[in-house]
Amino acid sequence: MQTLVWRIDPQKFTLDELQMAASLFRQGRLVAFPTETVYGLGANALDGQAVQGIFQAKGRPVDNPLIVHIAALAEIWSLVEAFPPLARSLAETFWPGPLTLVLPASGQVPAVVTAGLPTVGIRLPDHPVARALIRLAGVPVAAPSANRSGKPSPTTARHVLEDLNGRIAGVVDGGACAVGVESTVVDVTGSKPVILRPGGVTREMLTRVAGPVTVDRAVLDGDAVPRSPGMKYTHYAPRAPVFLLPGVWENQCKVLAGLLPGIPDLVSGPLGLLISRETQAELGPGLETGLGTGGPPVIRLTGSRGDLSLVAARLFGLLREFDSTDVKLILAETYPQEGIGLALMNRLAKAAGGHTWPPGRGVFFGE
Ligand code: TXA
Ligand code: MG
Repeated sequence: MQTLVWRIDPQKFTLDELQMAASLFRQGRLVAFPTETVYGLGANALDGQAVQGIFQAKGRPVDNPLIVHIAALAEIWSLVEAFPPLARSLAETFWPGPLTLVLPASGQVPAVVTAGLPTVGIRLPDHPVARALIRLAGVPVAAPSANRSGKPSPTTARHVLEDLNGRIAGVVDGGACAVGVESTVVDVTGSKPVILRPGGVTREMLTRVAGPVTVDRAVLDGDAVPRSPGMKYTHYAPRAPVFLLPGVWENQCKVLAGLLPGIPDLVSGPLGLLISRETQAELGPGLETGLGTGGPPVIRLTGSRGDLSLVAARLFGLLREFDSTDVKLILAETYPQEGIGLALMNRLAKAAGGHTWPPGRGVFFGE
């Protein structure tokens, strides 16, 4: 199959440019498209067979439900059995935006979308191309992130093609995604919202609107059984194993500085370092030459510890970049779990399978 690519300027485009992609949805085909969080791999959510194709293209476990994307709030009514006041106030505040609401599913939603659950995740994305495309298609669009299962989510059309070229009908290339981590998945079927997956809308933002918000234990504890099926799978993993540097920043720098004389027998190749520019500055020029016998480390800078939104936006792209190097092991700096930091650390902990450095010292989920 040849995968078509349509390049679209999100600031100025005409609906004509999206006609072909929209009609492919109506024909039951798969098209990847940009959202403000990550690229989605879409299919007509009401066409069970088309949705089946998403699982095949991604190699996704079939017990992991998909998010249904809509272009306007009113479209939610045919998809849910109930839309309680709590959910409605969150939708009115944060839509369009990086928030997925888990609600009781209506009979319209095929079981393959919900993985047989009685609930469905709904999201109204804040991206002009995504919304125009869904509106033109005239159907709700089921879309997981457009990566092969297990890999970091794609934040550019190039990432999508790396994983899915030849496996899907097309990609709408609308440039890089601004948020860079996926939406916050919130269960609003009970009296209090429960965060099943932290994301672009932070816990603090939700609390301001809805009062106390619970975070599902699985977000903070790698051994807990998650209520969001997708959270139990390994995710976001580059080829080389990732280890997190735990503790406060000063301690993380100390651990790295301690490695500077070299860690000869641990790895037979260069180390990857995923660190902030503050850490690079703190460790100085020794960093470029130290760390092991496998040659100089491959350093990827996440940005500044003072701007975690930017770190989050870059994270998946940087994890992917390590796959085009020959690093054998990646050490990653960690960040406070406040604001967007909770989503950032959740994705980093998943990429690392919870492992911290030095190895054998327990797992990183929470603190
Ligand atoms: O930002 C995003 O959410 C992106 C863009 C494309 O919209 N989509 C995305 O989809 O990240 P995906 O499939 O990669 O992740 C969906 C997450 C999974 O963890 C899944 O288990 C959870 O949402 N989810 C979906 N429906 C659910 C439901 N009914 N109950 C609990 N969790 C649900
Ligand atoms: Mg995903």
